[in-house]
Amino acid sequence: MGSVKKSSLKNTPRFAVAIMAAGKGTRLKSRLPKVLHEIGGKPLLQHVIDAALQLIPAKDIFAIVGHEAAKVRQAVAPSGIHFVEQKEQRGTGHAMMTAREALQGYDHVLVLSGDAPLIRPETIARLRDVHLEKRSTVTLLSAFPADPCGYGRVIHRRKNGRSTADVVGIVEEKSLTPAQRKQNLREINAGFYAFAVKPLFEHIGKLSPNNAHGELYLTDMAAILSRTKARVIAVVASDDDEVLGINTRAELARLDARLRDRKCAELMAEGVTIFRPETCVMDAAVEIGTDTVIEPFVQLLGTTRVGSDCRIRSYSVIRNCEIGNGVTVLPGCVMTDSRIANAAIVGPYSHLRPGSDIGESAHVGNFVETKKTKLGKGSKANHLSYLGDADIGDRVNVGAGTITCNYDGMSKYKTVIGDGAFIGSDTSLVAPVRVGRGAYIAAGSTITEDVPDDALALARSRQVNKEGWAAAKRTELPKKS
Ligand code: UD1
Ligand code: MG
Repeated sequence: MGSVKKSSLKNTPRFAVAIMAAGKGTRLKSRLPKVLHEIGGKPLLQHVIDAALQLIPAKDIFAIVGHEAAKVRQAVAPSGIHFVEQKEQRGTGHAMMTAREALQGYDHVLVLSGDAPLIRPETIARLRDVHLEKRSTVTLLSAFPADPCGYGRVIHRRKNGRSTADVVGIVEEKSLTPAQRKQNLREINAGFYAFAVKPLFEHIGKLSPNNAHGELYLTDMAAILSRTKARVIAVVASDDDEVLGINTRAELARLDARLRDRKCAELMAEGVTIFRPETCVMDAAVEIGTDTVIEPFVQLLGTTRVGSDCRIRSYSVIRNCEIGNGVTVLPGCVMTDSRIANAAIVGPYSHLRPGSDIGESAHVGNFVETKKTKLGKGSKANHLSYLGDADIGDRVNVGAGTITCNYDGMSKYKTVIGDGAFIGSDTSLVAPVRVGRGAYIAAGSTITEDVPDDALALARSRQVNKEGWAAAKRTELPKKS
């Protein structure tokens, strides 16, 4: 038994993945390297890595990085893949040359483009399986998009006037001959390949920069290997969209929109109402419970989770938040890294900064900003407040204009407010400070000392009324002519 297992293991071809991600992305006219531009809230390269990880373990995945390599590495490092550095970007063929050493010990390599983020794992698997089944040396993924402009075209061997399965070359758009242009070649090279490692590196030295860009094109390997009588074939992608590459900002926006549309459609299919979904921006990881209603122009980003029976009204931008059931978010809220418990009401125009924890049935109203603050069950901060580094108990009423003075220019300090306390309007709570359970703070107070449970704190000067003062003042005024 043991020996059978061993021999079958020995026969299992070893696959690596190489993701070409070293290019600058000149056509984007950006300081950010192309593969770090985002669609669906995730860098292009991360999309490709995630697809590859469905099939191949991280230890066998190599990203070829070059332009702004450190930045690119840092952005995708948590996925645990390896990196190969292509110091000078002399073309896709040159990129693979730099991976030669890393790929020793593998039988085949699946080469993926870091700028084509819609690729599905099923398609990469098909490329791998057809490659093995046909014992091919190069298997490339092709497609027939509505607009083939800008892509390399796949040229097949012709026999008796008919096109055969064998590929004899790939011609880049700029290198098409006038005759080829007339032929209206529609089959494009998607930029995904399976190569047998040995012949690839045996012949890769034959690449020449004799082309429009003066680069070493990996695509030329199709013709080079085909001339050695090796088998070069194409697998047609079942979905034209998933091979789309991003080279321009317009393409970036189009693919982002496509991902967002797909996500909204998924959420709606799961029982979420989204009005005017084309105006909403949902990141891929967002989860929403049934019967929640999302109004137009809402953004739910990162790992945000929304429960069921909520209503998220227009113009709210919510990132990495955990929202319970039956929550109402009124228009215009900005909420980040925060938690909102069941039946709470937030907004309009509330700003929940990281670490805000809004309790069950609590209210946070207009122009209230919270940061690292817990607002207990049923508590209310309805108008014009700043609550930072505060631990506020249950059933507390925070009056309009209350401010926690949490910062002395150097350090941050905490405010603690006990259950059932009543904070009068326009109170300044100079932290560190503690307000006891059930205590009252008179409006307009500046509280610098702790307030005991059930006490009333007044921290303002007593009012003085000067009878007749205003009338007397008016008689002194010079008369207007
Ligand atoms: C490439 C193909 C083209 C195909 C298209 C599909 C070549 C010569 N052409 O064209 O046939 O239709 O993809 O999207 O391969 N890169 C490196 N190092 C380099 C140059 C590029 O790692 O020196 C990386 C880029 O970061 C990018 C990928 O390779 O992720 C493709 O390069 P790009 O310049 O976008 O090639 P295309 O012109 O799109
Ligand atoms: Mg490209």
